[in-house]
Amino acid sequence: MKALQELIEDISTLREDEIDCKRLQHMVAKHQIDINQISGIEIDDNSDYFRKPILQDLVNIYLMYWPAGIVSSIHQHCNFGGIIKVCKGKLYERSFKYLHEQLALKELAAQNYKEGDILIEEPNAIHEVSNPSRTEMAVSLHVYFPGVQNLSGSRLFDVKENKIAILSDKASSFGWNQPEEAFSEVSSTPIHII
Ligand SMILES: [Fe+2]
Repeated sequence: MKALQELIEDISTLREDEIDCKRLQHMVAKHQIDINQISGIEIDDNSDYFRKPILQDLVNIYLMYWPAGIVSSIHQHCNFGGIIKVCKGKLYERSFKYLHEQLALKELAAQNYKEGDILIEEPNAIHEVSNPSRTEMAVSLHVYFPGVQNLSGSRLFDVKENKIAILSDKASSFGWNQPEEAFSEVSSTPIHII
């Protein structure tokens, strides 16, 4: 827990004009977070991925828990970026660009990340993150900036059900499995990956 507290203290000292990706990335890289020392989380093997809020300020910090085999939606953060550090297990990320005229998601890259690795989420980038392990939980630390009060305006893409959704300020995650009020718009769109 000490490293996480130190990271929070480091980040809390930053003024608004000092918050940038490089500085946050440096701080996140510096602290080795031992997930075994963080208590209070009971994991249900069948649960969806879920996040535990750590800090809600100029920067938002979460711990994200990824059950074995879980895959996030393909999603686009609206106007905020993030730094993800793998604290336990492995993550796999596919990144995309949306080609509006072709109604297609072009896959740009796919990459594996192991414990200690850092992923950078550029503002407005589109991606899917999963835990590729069939047996082991993964845990990651997420630092989002600028801090946002809600996920309003962020987009989800579903290539199996052919739909695109825009999240409302009631959304609590980038998941499809949320109450209707979490979505401000859902459109049927024959979208595919190229
Ligand atoms: Fe994301």
